[in-house]
Amino acid sequence: MPVTEREPVSSRLMRALSRGPRPSSQRFEAPEVYGREAISRIARALPPVERVYANVRFSILRPKLLSVMDLLLPDAGRILDIGCGFGLFAAYFGQTQPARRIVGVDPDARRIAMAERVSEAVGLSASNRFVAGDARDVALEGTFAGAYVLDVMHHIPEQDQLPMLVRLRDLLAPRGVLVVKDITTVPAFGLEFTRLLDRVMVGWDEPLRYRHHREWGEMLASLGFHVRMVRVPDVLPYPHVVIAATKR
Ligand SMILES: C[S@@+](CC[C@H](N)C(=O)[O-])C[C@H]1O[C@@H](n2cnc3c(N)ncnc32)[C@H](O)[C@@H]1O
Repeated sequence: MPVTEREPVSSRLMRALSRGPRPSSQRFEAPEVYGREAISRIARALPPVERVYANVRFSILRPKLLSVMDLLLPDAGRILDIGCGFGLFAAYFGQTQPARRIVGVDPDARRIAMAERVSEAVGLSASNRFVAGDARDVALEGTFAGAYVLDVMHHIPEQDQLPMLVRLRDLLAPRGVLVVKDITTVPAFGLEFTRLLDRVMVGWDEPLRYRHHREWGEMLASLGFHVRMVRVPDVLPYPHVVIAATKR
C-alpha cells in the first residue's frame, strides 16, 4: 500500500485563509423589525369595526412581542394558528416569512370568513387556509412544523387545557415548535387588568382560566417538550409571557 505524505497543518491553514470566504447562496436581510407595512395592509383589508379591533390588537402585541414570536416560529412549512380570530396574525406571520403556510382554526365562522378575506387582501390566499371548528376536536390533516396559540389558552376550560396541549404535540412533526403566548398571573394587578378587559370582550359566562407561567412550563415539560420562556414587559400592565415548547 503506498504511503501518502500528509501536508503540514500550517500550510493547509495558510491555503484555506488565502482562499477567502466561500461565496454564499444565502442572502441575509434584516427587514424592519416590526412589520409596520404588513400591519397597515392587514388593517386596510378590514371593515371599520374590525379595523379598530385590529389596531387595538397590534398596539397590545407590540414590536418586541411579535418579533419574539416571529423568530421562534419556523420560517417555512405548515404552521397551525389556534384560535386565529380574524386572521390578523396569520396575515402578519405569513407576510414576514412568505414560505410559511398557515392553517388557522377558530370556532367562530364569521371570524374565519374575515380571516380568509384578510389573507386574500394581503396576497396570501394561496398559502394561508382557514378552518371553522374547535381546536379540541376539529379534523386536521398531516403534521405541522410549528403551531402558535396567541392569547387563547386562558379561554379554554381548565379541564381541557392539558388535553389540548397533548393534541397540539401530536399534530407537530418531530422538532416542531409550539409557541404559546399567554398572560401569566403575576403581578396580580396586571392579571386583574387583563381579566377585566377579557370580561368586557367575552362577557361573564365564558371560562377564563389563567395560569402562572411556571405551571404552563411544567405541563408542557410533562408532555415531553423542551421548554423555554420569556416575559415581555409592556407600557401597559399586561403580564405577557411567550413560551416556546419544542417537541423532542
Ligand atoms: C382573545 S381571541 C384571540 C384571537 C387571535 N388569536 C388574536 O390574538 O387576535 C381568542 C380566540 O380564541 C378562539 N377560541 C376560543 N375557544 C377556542 C377553541 N376551543 N378552539 C379554537 N379557538 C378557540 C375564539 O373564538 C377567539 O377568536
